[in-house]
Amino acid sequence: MKIGVIGSGTMGNGIAQVMADAGYDVVLCDVNKEALERAAKTINTNVGRLYKKQGKELAEATKVLARIEFTTELSPLKDADVVIEAIIEKMDVKKKVFQELDGLCEGKTIFASNTSGLSITELGASTDRADRVVGMHFFNPVPVMKLVEVIRGSDTSDDTYEVIIELVRSIGKESISIVDAPLFVVNRILVPFINEAIFVLGEGIASVEDIDKGMMLGANHPIGPLALADMVGLDTLLFVAETLLEETGDSKYRVPPLLRKHVRAGHLGRKSGRGFYQY
Ligand code: CAA
Ligand code: NAD
Repeated sequence: MKIGVIGSGTMGNGIAQVMADAGYDVVLCDVNKEALERAAKTINTNVGRLYKKQGKELAEATKVLARIEFTTELSPLKDADVVIEAIIEKMDVKKKVFQELDGLCEGKTIFASNTSGLSITELGASTDRADRVVGMHFFNPVPVMKLVEVIRGSDTSDDTYEVIIELVRSIGKESISIVDAPLFVVNRILVPFINEAIFVLGEGIASVEDIDKGMMLGANHPIGPLALADMVGLDTLLFVAETLLEETGDSKYRVPPLLRKHVRAGHLGRKSGRGFYQY
């Protein structure tokens, strides 16, 4: 099976890694050449670390990277069985890519989106293959997190759904099945929680460190909500929080002004070297 991944950022490089590690041939595509170079380095480090820990031959780790073709072109995706899109969380940009792929790819190709919460139904309807469009939502960091949410749009076929469920199983991850709805399941619950932590900070109730310490030691979370926001990327988090508010129209999902302020300043979390913390 040939897997295409579009977008080699925080999520795309991890998705390419787990697919190649499972033995699939992978094409990793990004408009930004430097992003591809960074992705190759990240995958190399993460596979090496994983194989060392598992006591596997390091020579085997190099085979994982060799199964990934890095490219700035969409054309190598023509005969892919599944293309997983992991680009910026903007509906218009994702639709444009899906429409371009629709003209390029063979009829068999399934288009999966790693969107954090945009409508799979709307993405599907923007193509001539809504039956072969599905949500495949991985979690960050992809090589570590066990879950993939599989989201069915209004016209996603049973065949498409079954192929993706099997693909998730074949890479050693667990799936949950979801009917298309804003932010699906995990983010619908997680994003308001992170937002609340940012409101608590913005209201001057406690420091960044103490809010995170509170949730780690008081609720047994592996990392605090503000460290998690930095890991997700504050720009991505803002897009996702805006989707929840816009789609539901419910003011309980209002976006914390402090989140907007950080994004406007270019403080995007780990990926830019500064967010709630300095890296
Ligand atoms: N890539 C690959 N492996 C990584 C990694 C990365 N970016 N970061 C950490 N790891 C691995 C480490 O190598 C380590 O592996 P071993 O235990 O096998 O040695 C393991 O993860 C634990 O790492 P650390 O001990 O360094 O740090 P930690 O104990 O804090 O664990 C963590 C790291 C697993 C990421 C943990 O902090 C955690 O679970 N955090 C919460 C993650 C989470 O909630 N993710 C969801 C984000 S929301 C989302 O993804 C959806 C969305 O649409 C926005
Ligand atoms: P990112 O900003 O880290 O990376 C996005 C990459 O896509 C960049 O390298 C960029 O150059 C590339 N790109 C942008 N437009 C492109 C195009 N037209 N063609 C090819 N490449 C293009 O973003 P990310 O955090 O990896 O998020 C990607 C997607 O995954 C988003 O939909 C996001 O909501 C979702 N997601 C993110 C997380 C997270 O924790 N960051 C978790 C789950 C899902």
